[in-house]
Amino acid sequence: MALVAMKVFVTIGSMNRNVIFSIRAATSDDVQGILQCLRAAFAPFRTRYTPAAFRDTVLSETRLPERMKRMKIFVAEDECKNIAGTVGCSISGEKAHIRGMAVRPALQGCGLAAKLLAAAEGEARAANCSRMTLNTTEPLERAIHFYRRHGYRASGRVRNWFGMPLYQYVKQIDALR
Ligand SMILES: CC(C)(COP(=O)(O)OP(=O)(O)OC[C@H]1O[C@@H](n2cnc3c(N)ncnc32)[C@H](O)[C@@H]1OP(=O)(O)O)[C@@H](O)C(=O)NCCC(=O)NCCS
Repeated sequence: MALVAMKVFVTIGSMNRNVIFSIRAATSDDVQGILQCLRAAFAPFRTRYTPAAFRDTVLSETRLPERMKRMKIFVAEDECKNIAGTVGCSISGEKAHIRGMAVRPALQGCGLAAKLLAAAEGEARAANCSRMTLNTTEPLERAIHFYRRHGYRASGRVRNWFGMPLYQYVKQIDALR
């Protein structure tokens, strides 16, 4: 069931058209589409990731279903059921955490990421979470700009993640309400 539907004016190559995207909870039928979306979105950063960090980011046919047991995954799909974007949200007590945010490169800048983020934040709000966290890496400058614009701030916590620094960002619940 779609949580949100939005019309997006899409330009691909020389083609312009309006496409309706729906944001909905993912199912096991979405595994291939989510994996393709993750691979496409993170491909430009592959050379700046360690191999293990990249594998942990783009997942696999076995690792994504495992993540789906721990996290609620949302997808943005078009009318032809192509997955254009995804995000995962896990809840632990009063804390919520986002992982695996990605929008296919051709569709970045269309507002899909904001809708996916809103779906994840809605999940956190419904569970009465007091804060939302996420982790990001230095090469993901566009993502960092996006998160900052949506109220996330660096907490100062940095840890070693598969040989590269991982920066935690946080948004407090007051901002989520
Ligand atoms: C992160 C992501 C989901 C955001 O989706 P999006 O459609 O690109 O988001 P938006 O276009 O709404 O916002 C991106 C912002 O970054 C800005 N931006 C674009 N390129 C940038 C760059 N190289 N450096 C900094 N900011 C940049 C855009 O102008 C926009 O800001 P604005 O809204 O103030 O104009 C998407 O870019 C993506 O999939 N990136 C690759 C995977 C990734 O980094 N995932 C996050 C994991 S933590």
